[in-house]
Amino acid sequence: MERAERKLADPAAMALLIRGLYIHTGRYPWVLMQSPPGETEIPQEALIIDIAPARYDHQYVDIEYAAKILQDAYTAWEFDRAPAGAEALARSETGKKAPSCVVVQDADTVQGVYWIDRDFDAAKERMEAKNDALLTEKVSLPPLGFNAAHRAGVVKNKIALVTGGAQGIGAIIAQSLAASGALVFIADRNLEGAETLAAQINAKEKRTAAIPVAVDVADEASVKALFKTLIQNVGGLDICISNAGVLKAGSVLEQSLQDFSFVTDINYTGFFLIAKYAGLLFREQHRTALHWKTDIIQINSKSGLEGSNKNGAYAGGKFGGIGLTKSFALELADYNIKVNAVCPGNFFDGSLWSDPEKGLFVQYLRAGKVPGAKHIADVKAYYEAKVPMKRGCTGQDVMRAIYYIIEQEYETGQAVPVTGGQVMLH
Ligand SMILES: NC(=O)c1ccc[n+]([C@@H]2O[C@H](COP(=O)([O-])OP(=O)(O)OC[C@H]3O[C@@H](n4cnc5c(N)ncnc54)[C@H](O)[C@@H]3O)[C@@H](O)[C@H]2O)c1
Repeated sequence: MERAERKLADPAAMALLIRGLYIHTGRYPWVLMQSPPGETEIPQEALIIDIAPARYDHQYVDIEYAAKILQDAYTAWEFDRAPAGAEALARSETGKKAPSCVVVQDADTVQGVYWIDRDFDAAKERMEAKNDALLTEKVSLPPLGFNAAHRAGVVKNKIALVTGGAQGIGAIIAQSLAASGALVFIADRNLEGAETLAAQINAKEKRTAAIPVAVDVADEASVKALFKTLIQNVGGLDICISNAGVLKAGSVLEQSLQDFSFVTDINYTGFFLIAKYAGLLFREQHRTALHWKTDIIQINSKSGLEGSNKNGAYAGGKFGGIGLTKSFALELADYNIKVNAVCPGNFFDGSLWSDPEKGLFVQYLRAGKVPGAKHIADVKAYYEAKVPMKRGCTGQDVMRAIYYIIEQEYETGQAVPVTGGQVMLH
């Protein structure tokens, strides 16, 4: 059944296989774009793949077989152009050459023309100019150091998705990843907010570093469409950060099922949906990018590690998120997909706490929840004092944990607390 669903030369499936192959040979991330349908011209230097032998029932293509054909064609392409003598010596210093354009054919019919380069702007320029000049590939990643700047280097040129990235912690994650050289899809229910932030990031980084997309993570069709957009635009993904989340506090004795479901659908089911479609995409990419590690990271909470009074829907969904993280990690390790969670403590600077109208500080002040508190500052001081390190969690604290998870190849199924010691692992 799974085989039959794959249409002949499905452009999305081929895009993932081709990008995976480049990642595998270069050990670097790449961006891949497809010419609009109907392109039949074959550039001179292109790598041509005939997938007709992978066809069965005249209609469908066997993806596994197509991956093999792709790999063989690439090897033959390299062999045909193998340098010899002095040229080979010179090349070994500069890196090897790779095609920047791949044409997928079915016998004589062009099915897709794909353009590859190291970043979004370069790939787009190549596609528009039909520039098929060869790429120079360095062969291995430089060794990583241990300082923060080196650590951030692990995301350079990688393609990342951040859900709920229009504001709050998600916005800081999107800004930080972009500043470290990644291309970030900012996916949010608030498209306008995502567009504004993406424009700010692109102006600051002076390149296409962020792309806004609309999504409702609680709606499967919307999540499916998000991943389709992603593949169509850049050919794949390396880092998926499931950050979108909501909070509606309420007593178990009083909370309506509607409010409970609202929180659960976004925080728990939303993570399942994002992980499902990211997992499907990463699995496909893995067919040709065998050694490439990909990441699914859930922004969980300290409320995923201990109960939260009159906040059961939130804590329950976050506890569940860790259960999903551990279970998905077990299943997806076979495809080199790591699944981890980050559990931040209270992010006092964000709108959840600091919004002057609806934030928790003002709500707690009005409700008299903190004895003797007269001002917002008193409420804040009360909550800061609960943290052994005497301050709230910041976006940079969360980022350090994210970089650690991505850099650490030997860790999956973990929930990393970032709480200043307020909540510790049991
Ligand atoms: N704020 C904290 O103190 C804190 C602490 C620990 C963990 N967290 C977690 O961090 C994450 C971000 O929290 P925040 O405080 O930055 O939140 P926020 O409310 O500031 O931002 C959340 C973003 O998610 C988007 N969003 C909400 N529902 C969505 C949906 N169905 N589909 C797509 N996008 C949706 C919103 O539009 C918004 O841009 C959440 O998962 C939250 O549980 C927050």
